[in-house]
Amino acid sequence: MKILAIETSCDETAAAVVKDGREVLSSVVRSQIDEHKKFGGVVPEIASRRHVEYIADVTAAALEKSSTALADVDAIAVTAAPGLIGALLVGVNFAKGLCLAAEKPLIPVHHIRGHIASNYIAHPSLEPPFLCLIVSGGHTHIVQADGYTAFSVIGRTRDDAAGEAFDKAARVLGLSYPGGVEIDKAAASGNPAAYRLPRPKTENPYDFSFSGLKTNLINRVHNLTQKGGQIPVADMAASFRYTACSILTDKFIAAALELKADKLACAGGVCANVLLREMLTDAAKKHGLELFIPPIWLCGDNAAMIGAQAYYEFMAGNIAGMDLNASAAADAAGFRI
Ligand code: KG4
Ligand code: ZN
Repeated sequence: MKILAIETSCDETAAAVVKDGREVLSSVVRSQIDEHKKFGGVVPEIASRRHVEYIADVTAAALEKSSTALADVDAIAVTAAPGLIGALLVGVNFAKGLCLAAEKPLIPVHHIRGHIASNYIAHPSLEPPFLCLIVSGGHTHIVQADGYTAFSVIGRTRDDAAGEAFDKAARVLGLSYPGGVEIDKAAASGNPAAYRLPRPKTENPYDFSFSGLKTNLINRVHNLTQKGGQIPVADMAASFRYTACSILTDKFIAAALELKADKLACAGGVCANVLLREMLTDAAKKHGLELFIPPIWLCGDNAAMIGAQAYYEFMAGNIAGMDLNASAAADAAGFRI
């Protein structure tokens, strides 16, 4: 079964053709990062407008690269939630138009389910159940994939997402957007033990909270700046990266041990982090757990992961009508993880 998938939840306009949930025939991602960089973060209205301009070309490129005609796809999938509402609406409406014109079924996909499914592309043998850490610019979740379309949320961030904290830390250190990659680079030459940064406590031990960590770093930078001191960027980046990655790793592994999950996976843009990949790999090895990590190209937003999840949604009968709407929230009615 060939699915044409469309993803426009944030600042990447993406389309892909995916066969049977596992085989990527094409994946096209047009990033808007250079434009948003000037503002230090994604500007929602600009993102929506660029999606409107790029979506047709990106979709045509995905079909062409996979040597598939629109008439030959079996269904069209689209990210319907969560994300920037104006950005999501562009993809949803475009997908509906294609479905009407080509008489294809429409499959709505939850963006976080899509991130989890990036692992099905990377690891053909992976099947649920497994425990997944999803860490991106908008989300930080520990989710148990009970089945391909059945999930239990074990923990989530109570404030900032991990990627958001990386981006804000990078900004205060004078690094460019998106900050995660920049912190990762700067940290390589810094001392992770130079600063002892806080590890906020949460009522549910598997929830996350990154705003205290972020604010602590911001306050240190402001204090140093007021005293006219130099900002030790590498040491601060290394200490921040170390603290954030060890919080993520420790909570994820603790959840795995309590739930007796022996298969683990991770997903999302922050999963590209060099130290996080290393820490998760070492911790999984230490506890004899199997760990699946997607390659870098599948960590950030893309439509291939949406096409992968869409296959399983279709198999479960999750088809949308032409009244499909988008939702900015991750857990609105009809849009649960
Ligand atoms: O999954 P993604 O592309 O979009 C969302 O769904 O949010 O994630 C983007 C996030 C950004 O916050 C970015 O700074 C972060 O992923 N990121 C990283 C790294 N590469 C991207 N964070 C830490 N280390 C990295 N190497
Ligand atoms: Zn994402």
